[in-house]
Amino acid sequence: MSFNRSIKIAPSILSADFANFGAEIRAIEAQGADWVHVDVMDGHFVPNLTFGPPAVAAFRRHVTTVMDVHLMISPVDAYIEAYATAGADIITAHVEAGPHIHRTMQAIRANGAKAGVALNPGTPAEAVGYLLDMVDMVCVMTVNPGFGGQKFIHSQIDKVSKLRAMIGDRPIHIEIDGGVTPETAPLVVAAGADVLVAGSAVFKGGSVDNPDTYGQNMRDIRNAIPSARG
Ligand code: DX5
Ligand code: ZN
Repeated sequence: MSFNRSIKIAPSILSADFANFGAEIRAIEAQGADWVHVDVMDGHFVPNLTFGPPAVAAFRRHVTTVMDVHLMISPVDAYIEAYATAGADIITAHVEAGPHIHRTMQAIRANGAKAGVALNPGTPAEAVGYLLDMVDMVCVMTVNPGFGGQKFIHSQIDKVSKLRAMIGDRPIHIEIDGGVTPETAPLVVAAGADVLVAGSAVFKGGSVDNPDTYGQNMRDIRNAIPSARG
């Protein structure tokens, strides 16, 4: 995985058919997904429950791009090794998930994965100031984590701009997670984001039997971004 700031679309399989993950992952990759985003929820840090390490290891067998694993769990440190072993290329943990986020980032890299740090909408950009020399990605939550299909929180655009300035020349991705659509994508890209997670906006109207719709939905997001028009 070499670093660049080209725009990447990372469909969240939270919006896929839960009875058919292998085919769903293959379909979104065939239709142009850059990364595959996996939302792990524990029913404690967020009010929803999703995927344990065995499920993520099963997804891995179908992912040929980048498996981007977003841990919305607390505590988190005890599970990092298991999700790394499951095959995560990037593991993202939340600043709000515990008192030792610095240690958490060290543990992710020590387990051989790229390290991401996520910020809830109420958490300031400055919360990651002392982590920037040890992370590969900052994820700005543009909804409160827990569910797909929520409305984009516009106040977070300013946070993206602040982070972009704080990051400077460091090879750190800025990922946006929540409410990404053709309307909101250009706003966050203009502010400095390069990875766009999108669940409902990618999967809506499509299926593994009608995968072209996934491709069209991704093109609709890309074509809305002036700098990404080919
Ligand atoms: C929210 C998740 C997101 C979410 C995005 O807790 O982290 O990845 O599924 O879904 P949409 O794009 O539908 O807002
Ligand atoms: Zn996510």
